[in-house]
Amino acid sequence: MNTIIEPFRIKSVEPIYFNNKEERIAILKKAFYNPFLIHSNDVLIDLLTDSGTSAMSSNQWAGIMQGDESYAGSPSFFRFEETIQQLTGLPFVIPTHQGRASEKILFSILGGKGKYIVSNTLFDTTRANIDFSGAEGVDLICEEGKYPTIPAPFKGNMDTGLFEKFIAEKGAANISACIITVTNNSGGGQPVSMANIREIKNICVEFNIPLFIDACRFAENSYFIKLREEGYADKSVTEIAKELFSYADGCTMSAKKDAFANIGGFLAMHNEQLAKECRNLLIMTEGFPTYGGLAGRDLEAIAIGLREVLDEHYLQYRIRSIEYLTNKLIDVGVPVMQPAGGHAVYIDAKAFLNHIPVDQYPGQALVGALYVEGGIRSVEIGSLMFGKYDEDGKLIPSQMELVRLAIPRRVYTQSHIDYVAEVIIEVFNKRNEIKGLKIIEEASTLRHFTAKLETI
Ligand code: F0G
Repeated sequence: MNTIIEPFRIKSVEPIYFNNKEERIAILKKAFYNPFLIHSNDVLIDLLTDSGTSAMSSNQWAGIMQGDESYAGSPSFFRFEETIQQLTGLPFVIPTHQGRASEKILFSILGGKGKYIVSNTLFDTTRANIDFSGAEGVDLICEEGKYPTIPAPFKGNMDTGLFEKFIAEKGAANISACIITVTNNSGGGQPVSMANIREIKNICVEFNIPLFIDACRFAENSYFIKLREEGYADKSVTEIAKELFSYADGCTMSAKKDAFANIGGFLAMHNEQLAKECRNLLIMTEGFPTYGGLAGRDLEAIAIGLREVLDEHYLQYRIRSIEYLTNKLIDVGVPVMQPAGGHAVYIDAKAFLNHIPVDQYPGQALVGALYVEGGIRSVEIGSLMFGKYDEDGKLIPSQMELVRLAIPRRVYTQSHIDYVAEVIIEVFNKRNEIKGLKIIEEASTLRHFTAKLETI
C-alpha cells in the first residue's frame, strides 16, 4: 500500500475555535504582530512549536497515574534513569524541568569569560545561556546548510574544516565544549550524518574537547540516517540512536520534543566530577537529583515516550507528513527549505517576500499574513530572532529569514495539513500586498518572545 496512515487512533479530542479574517486582523494588531502574544484560543492550527505540544499516548497517561511523588528515591526516577542509560550509554542522568534548564546548569560550569562553545548551530536558548555565562557560542554549519532551497541529505552537518581552523586560531584549551544539535532546529530541522558526528568526535578526542549532543530530536535525526546514509538502511533506529550517543561525552535534552512529554528534560554524561557539579547546581535551582524540576509522573511519561518515539511506523509517518506538506508547497513554487526537515516546514521568507528588505522583518510579516489568512500560527527564525545591531544601531541581519511551521507530534491529521497548504498557497498568490514591519519595543535578549511591532 502506498498510503502512509497515522499510526494511532484518536481516543480524546480537543475543539478548535474558529474565528474570521476580520477578527484575526484585530487580534494580530492587538498582539503587536507577535505570534507569542496571541492567545491560543484565537489560533486555528497552532504550528508555533513542536515543543511540549505532543499528544501523549494512552500508555503515557497510564504512566502518569503510576508516578511516585516521593521527594527522594522515587521508583519513577529509577525507571527514567534506566531508560536514558540504556538509550544513551551515559551513566549519570540528571532530570531538569526542560531543555534550557539543562543548558543553564551545563554552561554555568563549562562557560565563562574567554571560553568558546562551538556547534553546527546553537538553538536560541542554548546560545542565550552560553552568552549569559560570559562565553561565546560559535556556529560552524556546513556550506550547503546556508542555502535554503538547495537540497542536500545532511544540511545539519558541522564544517569540520572550519572546526579545525577555529581550534588552531583560538587554542583548544579555550574551547570548553562542542555541541551538536540533532536535528539542526535553527538551520531548518536538517539532520546531521553519523559520518559527520564521527569526524567531529575524532577532532574532539585529538584536542580533548568534550562533545555534547543537543538531543531534542535524536529519533528524527536517527531515522534520517537510516533513510539517507549508506550502511544504515538495515539497522534499527534504536541501534542508530545508540551509535549516535556512543560518540558523545554527554547530552542535553528537552523531553518536550522527541519524548512526547508536555514538560521535562535532562542532562546526561560520562564525567562523574562534572555530574557532581551539575547536581549541586540542580539542587539549588531545580530540585533534588531524583526529581530535578519534575513531578514523578512526568518522569514516567518521559521514560515511556523515549521508547515510543523509536517505533519506526511512527517515524515513517512523522517524517513523511512533513515531506508531504513541503512537497505540496514546492509543486506551486513556494520557496521552502529543501529537503523537508524532521519536525517543521521552513519557508524562505526572503525569497517569498522579496519586496520587503531584511530590516523590515519579512519573516515576521509572513507569520502575520498566515495568521490573518487562515488562523495559522507560525514563528519567524530570522532577523527578529537572531538579528543584532552594529555600533550605529543598524541591523546586522541573520544569515537566513525563515518562517517555521512546526508540526506537533500526533496532533493534526492530513486534512489539517491540507488546509495549511491551502492557506500558504493563498498567501503566496497575494504576497505583493504584504507590508514590512518595524519594532516599537524590544528586550535586550531573546527579543522575539516579547517584541512589539507595527506595520510600515
Ligand atoms: N535545543 C533545541 C534544539 C531546541 O529546539 C530547544 C527548544 C531547546 C534546546 C530548549 O528546550 O524549550 O525545553 O527549554 N525548542 C523549542 C522550539 C522551544 O520551539 O523549537 P526547552
